[in-house]
Order: sequence, then structure tokens, then C-alpha cells
Amino acid sequence: MAEDETKRNGADFAQGIPLDRLPDGARLVGHFEGEDVLLVRSRDEIFAVSPHCTHYNGPLAEGLVVGDTVRCPWHHACFDLRNGEALRAPALSPIACWEVEQRDGTVRVTRKRERTKPRPRSEAAAEPERIVIIGGGAAGFAAAEMLRRKGYQGSLVMLSSDAALPYDRPNLSKDYLAGAIPFEYVPLRDEGFYEENDIETHLGQAAREIDVRAREVVLTSNERFPYDKLLLATGAEPVRLTIPGADQPHVHTLRSLADCQGIIEGATAAGRAVVIGASFIGLEVAASLCARKLEVHVVAPDKLPMERILGPDMGNFIRTLHEEHGVNFHLQNKAVAIDRKKVRLESGDIVEADLAVVGIGVRPRLELAEKAGLRLDRGIAVDQYLETSAPDIFAAGDIARWPDSHSGENIRIEHWVVAERQGQAAALNMLGERAPFTQVPFFWSQHYDVPINYVGHAEAWDEVAIEGDVMSKDCLLRFKQHGRVVAVASIFRDLESLQAEVTMEHEVTA
Ligand SMILES: Cc1cc2nc3c(=O)[nH]c(=O)nc-3n(C[C@H](O)[C@H](O)[C@H](O)COP(=O)(O)OP(=O)(O)OC[C@H]3O[C@@H](n4cnc5c(N)ncnc54)[C@H](O)[C@@H]3O)c2cc1C
Ligand code: FES
Repeated sequence: MAEDETKRNGADFAQGIPLDRLPDGARLVGHFEGEDVLLVRSRDEIFAVSPHCTHYNGPLAEGLVVGDTVRCPWHHACFDLRNGEALRAPALSPIACWEVEQRDGTVRVTRKRERTKPRPRSEAAAEPERIVIIGGGAAGFAAAEMLRRKGYQGSLVMLSSDAALPYDRPNLSKDYLAGAIPFEYVPLRDEGFYEENDIETHLGQAAREIDVRAREVVLTSNERFPYDKLLLATGAEPVRLTIPGADQPHVHTLRSLADCQGIIEGATAAGRAVVIGASFIGLEVAASLCARKLEVHVVAPDKLPMERILGPDMGNFIRTLHEEHGVNFHLQNKAVAIDRKKVRLESGDIVEADLAVVGIGVRPRLELAEKAGLRLDRGIAVDQYLETSAPDIFAAGDIARWPDSHSGENIRIEHWVVAERQGQAAALNMLGERAPFTQVPFFWSQHYDVPINYVGHAEAWDEVAIEGDVMSKDCLLRFKQHGRVVAVASIFRDLESLQAEVTMEHEVTA
């Protein structure tokens, strides 16, 4: 297929195109009755689907076709080409599908398919009557959505200490904080979704105890929720600074929508901001505050930002990128005291700032699990089915330490996509499907217009092989340990990032 054809919006598929324009593996964008359509050929079959990813509208024509699925180049969502189902988060909604006809050497799109509603499960009698989810974040929401998508008919309760319905947390440090998107883009679903899907939500109320013997969750209000299966998805909370002045109202951490709105409010009145910590979240916040025209300082003990995770070349690039946008770094330094208008550093330097955001890491919220006597291992220990040491209690997301098939280690990580996919796997397992969680970890981070994608997981590496040029924003870095690729980071090498993911998956199945 000619390169430009994936980008062209030209052919009218109602009129048809010659079959020989679609060799095996080809993707071609055209239209049918006013809608964009992507034709994909996989061996002898031709599929017609929407070219727009339902996560953030990524161009599926530039993604990777794997068997009868297509993966999005931006954040690795995966769709079934046969029915459009979003098989893998971060996309949760299906893509549209059309009927295709092949006749006399011509391929034609004939009609758009109706979306089918989930059907009740045939083995419903054997299913749990009551499922309770503690947590309305990535893992909790994805689990609830998957349960109903799979036709689960029983009672489904979601308890969340957050007062807001589940929302797109990654956006809180990126476009929403930067003021680039309106609030409507932030909730994962509107209120109607929970009503239609009979998901009973209790917001703004924390669970204080799991009564394992009675099989009940107890809220701080003392209300009790009986369960047959329980999913713990309480996520993580920001580590707080303990230096003098860190408890003032203009010093923020960022985890929730309310935190983000507090920072936005502070930023409207502030002229200078200090970000304490050069983590992904800290630097994304720095970028967003720059977009709001604040003077931004970043204070961190590191030699280079994110060097421990991404290596020195990427660390250097990230520093330069932020400096080009006006960020002032104070590296190999620490904040020791915060005043209303300034921050004192360990070096003795003073940084003037009327807004401070602390991003120095998170810790998993384990209190409920600890009190319930679940086995802990720097997180909640779960097996490959995401089940904890207590039968019928599952855990997913930032709190779970699971046996990762690719690294062969028990790991706990804090990635949006991993949390959602674990929530989805836990949902299937609560329905008795015995679906092991074997997916290779993936995360992305966005700094200005530069996305960084990362596949795999490297607690440590002894070599970094760089393809392309990091400073030119066109690169793929392979992190190796004893000669084996354990993780891959990339900038604007989306297809290769997807291919690296597939290679790692093959290693897992082998
Ligand atoms: C600002 C920001 C930006 C991020 N950007 C990215 C990114 O770009 N890419 C990426 O891969 N990851 C990103 N992450 C990380 C990602 O958001 C997390 O890994 C993910 O949200 C974890 O999902 P979770 O379901 O485990 O926890 P969460 O999404 O944190 O959800 C936990 C839920 O549990 C609730 N809860 C906690 N305790 C209780 C209780 N006792 N009772 C009832 N409810 C309770 C909370 O209110 C919350 O609703 C970002 C995180 C933040 C904060
Ligand atoms: S835009 Fe497709 S996965 Fe994010």
C-alpha cells in the first residue's frame, strides 16, 4: 500500500475500490455515507471500521494490525476488527463497524452495523449475586464497565471516597490542568451511564473496614454492603512533604479532580510556581503551568529528570525540552522550608513562588487490606488472576503486586492503562472466567507536544540501545538487562513501540 493512502480521506467505499489496492496487511481510509471508514485487510478478510480510536481519537490507520485486531498508535488500545469491541484499555467504547462485500475483484462497503447490546450471560445462575468495588478510579471503573459489558446481571456497587464520578486522571496533569480542554472531557462517563447500567455508586464516602467473616464492606458512615465478590481498587495517595510550611493552603499535591481544581484556582492568582519533584507528574504539571503563563521552577534532588527510569539521554532531553519552554531547574537540590511567597532550598538559594505543587511520589492505600488481614508485599499480594490471599477478594491497580509474566518478577506499578486492564481482568475473574493477567505494562507521558511511550518494565537495566536521535524527538530506546530487552521507550516511533509490545507478548506466551 502506498504510504499516503493511509492518510488520504478520499475513496468512496460505497462505490467500491479494486481488491488489488488492498494487499494483505493494508489499511486504507475512505468514507461511506459521510463517515470516515478504515478498510483493513488481514489475510483474505477485509474489515471496515472507524479509523478513530475511542480513547483520544488516535489514528488507527497508523496503528498495528495483529490478527483480527488493530492497536492504536498513541496509547496501545486494541480493538476487535470483527465487532469493534475495545479489547484493551485505555479505550473502553467500541469503534463502529460496517459490512463489506467482495465481488468481481471489487471491495464495497454496503451498510453500517447496528451496535448490539450486551446479552445476559448464559451461565448467570452460577454468577455472584453481589459484587462490590471499593474505588472509583481507573481499575474500579474499568471493572464495573467490563462486568456490565459482559452481561453480568447481578447487583453491582461502586464505593468511592472521591465525591466525583470516575474521571480521566491522566488529564489532571496535562490538558485539563493546562486549560486546553473543557471539563466535559474529564469524566469517563456521564451520570446516565451508571443509571442505564445499574451501577449503584456511593460517592464521597470511604470504606473503613472489610468484614471478611460477614463478607461485608463497612463505610465510615457505618453503612454495610454485603458482597459475594469484592474488588479492592483504592489506588495510591501522594507522599506529603514534612518540611516547615508544607501544610499551607498554597502548597498542593495532585491526585484527585478536587486537587487539580485547587491548583487551577491557585494558578489564576499566582505569577510564579514551584514544582517540588521532577517526576512524570511534577514535570507534566510544570508544562501545564507554563501553558498558563506562570513562571515555573522545578526543584529536585536528581541530577537529571527521570534519569533513573529513562536513562541519561532521555533525562537530558527532557530537561532541555522544559528549559526551552521556560522552566527553571534547581537540580541536586531540595526544598527545606516553604514561606507564603518563597521556598528556601538546601543550597541556601531562595525561589520566589506563590504556588507550590509537590510531586514526590505516591504510596499505595493499603489500610483496608492490612486491617482485613490480606497478605501484603509492598502492596497487596495477588496471584495471576488478581485474587488476594482471601478467597473472593480481588485487588487491581496501583495497590496490587502481581506476578508479571514478562519480567518474571512480582511487581507493583502506577500506570493508568495497567490499572484499567487489571480492573478488566479482575472483572472476568470475579465472573469465574479464570483469565490470567499477562499483559505487558504500558504507560505514556506527555510534555508539551512531545509524547513519551514506554512498554515493559525495568526495575534495573545494564545497557540502553538507542535507535534514532533523542534530541530530534525521533527515537526508540531499548533497556536491556543481561542482553534481554526488558523495556522500550520511544518518542514519535509509535509503530515500533507497538511492535516491541507484540514481541514482548510473544516472549510471554513462549
Ligand atoms: C495527575 C496524574 C496524572 C497521571 N498521568 C498518567 C499518565 O499519563 N500515564 C499513566 O500511565 N499513568 C498516569 N497516572 C497514574 C494513574 O492515574 C494511576 O496509575 C491510576 O489512576 C491507578 O488507578 P487505580 O484504580 O489503582 O487508582 P485511582 O485511579 O487512584 O483510584 C482509586 C480510587 O479509590 C478511591 N478510594 C481510595 N480509598 C478509598 C476508600 N477507603 N474507600 C472508598 N474509596 C476509596 C479513590 O477515591 C479513587 O476513586 C497519573 C496519575 C496522576 C495523579
Ligand atoms: S488515542 Fe487510542 S489509545 Fe489513546
